[in-house]
Amino acid sequence: MTTTWITICDTCKRDDWAARGLDETDGERLASLVEAEAEGKAVRVRRTSCLMGCDHSCNIAIQAAGKLSYTLGRFEPSTEAAQGIVAYAEGHAASESGKVPYREWPQAVKGHFVTRHPPLPDESA
Ligand code: FES
Repeated sequence: MTTTWITICDTCKRDDWAARGLDETDGERLASLVEAEAEGKAVRVRRTSCLMGCDHSCNIAIQAAGKLSYTLGRFEPSTEAAQGIVAYAEGHAASESGKVPYREWPQAVKGHFVTRHPPLPDESA
């Protein structure tokens, strides 16, 4: 079984970020929440700078070798969003193909999907 990774853009800023006068970006706040939520669970978390979806921050990707991959956006840096992202990633990890049945989607990820990528062909076959 391959590992499911949650990649979080730590440079994302929502439209009102400057007005809120925050030192941390919204992406850094979301990343901290997701990292805490994923502690002890069967998924891994990493940060990156810019997933090129800046207009619909905050953005994340869910990926595992040999499985469907997804990018999701328009998240607020909230505990509810972090819980939904991690729960969805756990479903992705448990799925052979990476496809999580819709009935198992956490409410917090609904309406946040941006793209889906099929797995790359297995070139060793
Ligand atoms: S800054 Fe997050 S996608 Fe560009």
